[in-house]
Amino acid sequence: MTYIKDLSELLIDATSRKKTIPIWCVQPSSKKINIPYLNDTQKDWLKNREWSQKAKNYALIPDDKGGLDGVVFVPEQMDHNSRTTLSFGQLPPNLPNGNYELVGEYGDENFAVLSWLLGCYKFQNYLSSPTSKTITLKLPKNVDRERSLAQAEAMWMGRDIINTPANHFGPEELETVCRDLAKYHKAKLKVCVGDKLLKENFPLIHAVGKASTRAPRLMNMHWGDKTNPLVTLIGKGICFDTGGLNIKTGNHMLLMKKDMGGAATTLALAHMIMSAQLPIQLRVLIPAAENSIAGNAFRPGDILPSRQGMNVEIGNTDAEGRLVLADALALASEENPEHIMTFATLTGAARVALGADLPAFFCSDDNFSEKVISSSMEWADPVWRLPFWQPYDSLLSSNIADVNHISSGGFAGAITAALFLKHFVPKKTMYSHFDLYGWTPNAKPGRPKGGEPQGARAVFETLERIYAK
Ligand code: BES
Ligand code: MN
Ligand code: ZN
Repeated sequence: MTYIKDLSELLIDATSRKKTIPIWCVQPSSKKINIPYLNDTQKDWLKNREWSQKAKNYALIPDDKGGLDGVVFVPEQMDHNSRTTLSFGQLPPNLPNGNYELVGEYGDENFAVLSWLLGCYKFQNYLSSPTSKTITLKLPKNVDRERSLAQAEAMWMGRDIINTPANHFGPEELETVCRDLAKYHKAKLKVCVGDKLLKENFPLIHAVGKASTRAPRLMNMHWGDKTNPLVTLIGKGICFDTGGLNIKTGNHMLLMKKDMGGAATTLALAHMIMSAQLPIQLRVLIPAAENSIAGNAFRPGDILPSRQGMNVEIGNTDAEGRLVLADALALASEENPEHIMTFATLTGAARVALGADLPAFFCSDDNFSEKVISSSMEWADPVWRLPFWQPYDSLLSSNIADVNHISSGGFAGAITAALFLKHFVPKKTMYSHFDLYGWTPNAKPGRPKGGEPQGARAVFETLERIYAK
């Protein structure tokens, strides 16, 4: 199975002469239907259906032979600082096969095209008769075709790997995706597997993954010119999270195939960065493991060494994500990057605070943080900032080890998890951390139900603004 798909066949060139079906984009109108593209019969037809010209509504307009004359669509009117909805994304799943073209007032064309492409996604790998839709969009003028395609391909790849169930997607399959991506972009990849993790001093990654029959591993990818500033991305790659000996209940375990959503987001972001050839040096670390249960599983109360040197007391084996990230962070820090970022489906507490749509975002640098937040709102990839609140660090103290990996008491779970990670990053290094859900529980325009990398577009846009020539 290939995860990096070429989506260029979903688009038609702006100069093409292929016949297209118009999508007439109009402003909302509170009173009567006001659509210059329609004849009176068509307006009556809409009126009789009690169709109203309000934001996000659309209608398929028949011609006088009963064919499809065009589509009326009212895009959501949002200024570019507050785009949370990919409203064009609702069209592709609801239109019949055909070649379409946007006409009228559709706002930012790059945003419209990206929303459209994100809305074309469907996960059908397990359907014996998948629907083969052939819907294409003629590129509006001034769209950056390659950029839009790379972003959509990255998102599709991330969705595919989250959606693939854990029986078909373990640490080894995650490694394969990294290999394919490295090959595609001519990046270097090193992988450390199984007991070699102990030899090469990644005790926490090994401990979390050792109870699974599928060996844990660390993927280590390097790309770009060594003279450029180094940015290191780290993604939590827990391919399934049973909770370990602190086993989750059925309900809480149900969706845990998505516990590699941080890795999916990281790889999606890496694909965007490398496709755009951003002038940075990129390093991607994916610690991958399955948090399983067996006689050799790590236990609550165990004290484990870490790569960085601190001994970590295990408070709960279900807080496995921060452990694998800690060893990856220690490795990242040895290379002295300008910026380290972690992406992880790390805590239920972040979900309680912000829900499924909003990743919690922690950042040691106010300036960078502001940029990420404004890009996130511009690209409908919202994130919300929470603090690395140092006074809570004392909640992680342990009597018998250097640090406890969870806090006692149920307060500020997302913050204490972030603070635990911060122990493994040098003070002078810029550090951003995204605690995300990685999943759309109910379909929304451009966001089909299922896996969703979150924060990748926001960070890509930010890095592009900072580094692109
Ligand atoms: N992967 C989970 C966190 C999670 C759960 C993310 C549900 C998204 C949805 C993580 O490994 C975990 O289990 N965290 C525990 C930590 C606790 C034991 C300190 C949690 O949040 O309950
Ligand atoms: Mn867990
Ligand atoms: Zn987890």
